[in-house]
Amino acid sequence: MNPVLQIEDLSFAYLDDKNVLNHVSLSIEPGQYATLIGHNGSGKSTLSKLIMGLMSGYDGKIFLFGEEVNRKNLRSLTSKVGIVFQNPDNQFVGSTVADDIAFGLENSCVKREEMEAIIQEVACDVGMEKFLSHEPASLSGGQKQRVAIAGVLAMNPSLVIFDEATAMLDPRGKKEIRALIQKMRTKNPDLAILSITHDIEEAAASDRVFVLEKGSILFAGSPHEVFCHYEELVNARLDIPFAVKMCRALRNQGMHVPENITTVEALEEFLCQ
Ligand SMILES: Nc1ncnc2c1ncn2[C@@H]1O[C@H](COP(=O)(O)OP(=O)(O)OP(=O)(O)O)[C@@H](O)[C@H]1O
Ligand SMILES: [Mg+2]
Repeated sequence: MNPVLQIEDLSFAYLDDKNVLNHVSLSIEPGQYATLIGHNGSGKSTLSKLIMGLMSGYDGKIFLFGEEVNRKNLRSLTSKVGIVFQNPDNQFVGSTVADDIAFGLENSCVKREEMEAIIQEVACDVGMEKFLSHEPASLSGGQKQRVAIAGVLAMNPSLVIFDEATAMLDPRGKKEIRALIQKMRTKNPDLAILSITHDIEEAAASDRVFVLEKGSILFAGSPHEVFCHYEELVNARLDIPFAVKMCRALRNQGMHVPENITTVEALEEFLCQ
């Protein structure tokens, strides 16, 4: 199967300014949960907007589902890519939850009868079926994000980008959205996720991690392959997952700890053996 997303040697500058992205290459396979981490201003959101086709004028190539994106196929290719942004209040376009979910479907000229069934299904998927006639103002931040996700799911995407989608939510909202993402992946095992996150523990538990530093990919690989570059990551002012720090401390005490432990769950499993 083709990679869902492949980026080759992508460089981009806003206006005539210096490059915000420098020779970025990366790829994401179907079903993969990839995370993109990096300091504020490292270019993560810029990259996501370029993938979504929201900005043009870049050097390099972006392939979606094996096809290089160009002006002609941009709309059809990006219709299979959904994005959920950080601020729940900036995502609503409809006057009710149902209208909001319908927005993308209306733009793709889906028939009214089919639309109703899709809205019902995705609202159930995100647990918002009882809120279809509610106005956005009456919802919590977490509920608004769930509606945004329903709008994305209605389009039956193959790739969903979360650009710090849980950053503004309280712990309960964060947990709900994380559980929802897992549910989405179970329902559709080929669905690829690109989560842009400052949550290092989320990166530690993902399939593939990309580290962006001043517009360039500093490291890419499995969490183990990335987080073994301990000093370089600390120098880039990035956090280190708790389990990786813990394993390092245990090794310094002379304990033999496997190299590939990056999550607390894996560490607990090892220590309980
Ligand atoms: N519309 C714009 N016009 C000009 N410069 C921009 C624009 N948007 C972002 N930038 C600049 O591009 C650089 C990368 O910004 P970007 O938002 O992509 O970073 P980020 O990694 O998403 O940061 P954060 O973690 O804070 O969300 C920053 O220096 C930012 O100031
Ligand atoms: Mg950003």
